[in-house]
Amino acid sequence: MKSQFPQDFIWGTATASYQIEGAAEVDGRGESIWDHFSRMPGRVVNGHTGDVACDHYNRYAEDVKIMAELGVDAYRFSIAWPRIFPEGKGKPNAKGLDFYQRLLDELEKHNIRAAATLYHWDLPQALQDNYGGWVNRDVALYFRDYAAYVLERLGKRLFQVITINEPWVAAMLGYAFGVHAPGIRDYKAALHASHHLLYGHGLAVQVYRELGLSGQIGITLNLTPFYPRCDDPRDADAARIVDGTTNRWFLDPVLKGRYPEDIVEWYKSRDMMVDLPADDLKVIGEKSDFLGINYYSRGIVGHSDDDPRGYKQFSPDSPVTDMGWEVYPTGLYDLLTRLTRDYGSIPLYITENGAAYPDVVEDGRVHDKERTEYLQKHFEQAARAIADGVPLKGYYVWSLLDNFEWAFGYTKRFGIVYVDYDTQKRIIKDSGLWYRDFLKG
Ligand code: FCB
Repeated sequence: MKSQFPQDFIWGTATASYQIEGAAEVDGRGESIWDHFSRMPGRVVNGHTGDVACDHYNRYAEDVKIMAELGVDAYRFSIAWPRIFPEGKGKPNAKGLDFYQRLLDELEKHNIRAAATLYHWDLPQALQDNYGGWVNRDVALYFRDYAAYVLERLGKRLFQVITINEPWVAAMLGYAFGVHAPGIRDYKAALHASHHLLYGHGLAVQVYRELGLSGQIGITLNLTPFYPRCDDPRDADAARIVDGTTNRWFLDPVLKGRYPEDIVEWYKSRDMMVDLPADDLKVIGEKSDFLGINYYSRGIVGHSDDDPRGYKQFSPDSPVTDMGWEVYPTGLYDLLTRLTRDYGSIPLYITENGAAYPDVVEDGRVHDKERTEYLQKHFEQAARAIADGVPLKGYYVWSLLDNFEWAFGYTKRFGIVYVDYDTQKRIIKDSGLWYRDFLKG
């Protein structure tokens, strides 16, 4: 199947700083909103925190070696803002940056290309305490300063830079629904946060251009295709709204330089719209080199008279992963072809795709057949999209390691490599071995 992908296609694995690094108080790292949030009683399953996680901060060399064994071309990781600026701004912490230099040394030794995400949700807590986090426009400016500091020093070593990971999740789960850090429940605040995350993205793209860096920069969005429940036009309308609030609300500003008019109207009609400075859209719409896509599943939407929003999501009867997410590989094909149809030929990367299953170790092996099947079927749909003309350039499997799955703590395992959290021993799962063989062609 590998031969169905272009020769220069990039195959990788992905992680994020707070989910794997641990070493929360080492070498001058400041507190992040996830350190703070995970300590609030009842917010994370079993009170788990990222204090130790996969201890990747100390074991990065071993982890890079595993990647080399798998034979990946590239590694997507994220840089922890509070390691670089413990207070979010002001005085940088050289030791924090050194860690990423060491990681890059190791990757280069093994010829693995580096793709760095600048923001994968670990906002310095000081920016939350003193400014209200992403609700405040100034935080986007501090993000730009942090991005400039990192890109000046590491930029040349990064083949790909992802500005912001999943602004919908960061804004909505963090500021509207309160299930992610910082745990706020205020929809209007979340709309401001979404705008400032996008503004921060645009500012970072500008910085990248000013520095004359020759790699690629873009944003990663969590994109979910939504399908109407039945043939009823009211269901189609419901699907349009949900697609609008979750997908187009981010795609349109970044790739077209404007918010989707139908959704602005919809928010206004519900008194949910906030003032978003139109001038910022020029910055947000700065030309990106690629679009990163995190795809896990689809959604099914129907109209509903009893729901105040006028619609509801429905669950399908098909198999689901340990997250309760439906396994729906065709959705990836639909999504990729739709993006090319609606947004033109911008290069696309799948920056995350993978599945959680309740793995067990048997005689030193992990037989995660379902995860292998999940990956295989999604690879097939990606190949199909490429055959139909979609400029898909790379694919990062989520995740290299089992890790801290946000509000679910360590109870959900997404890795193609198993982590025994008591001993920190790594075991390449059957899915990882399958990926290795796939990569060998
Ligand atoms: C995405 C996140 C990533 C991981 C996966 C399962 O929303 O970007 O960190 O938690 O989901």
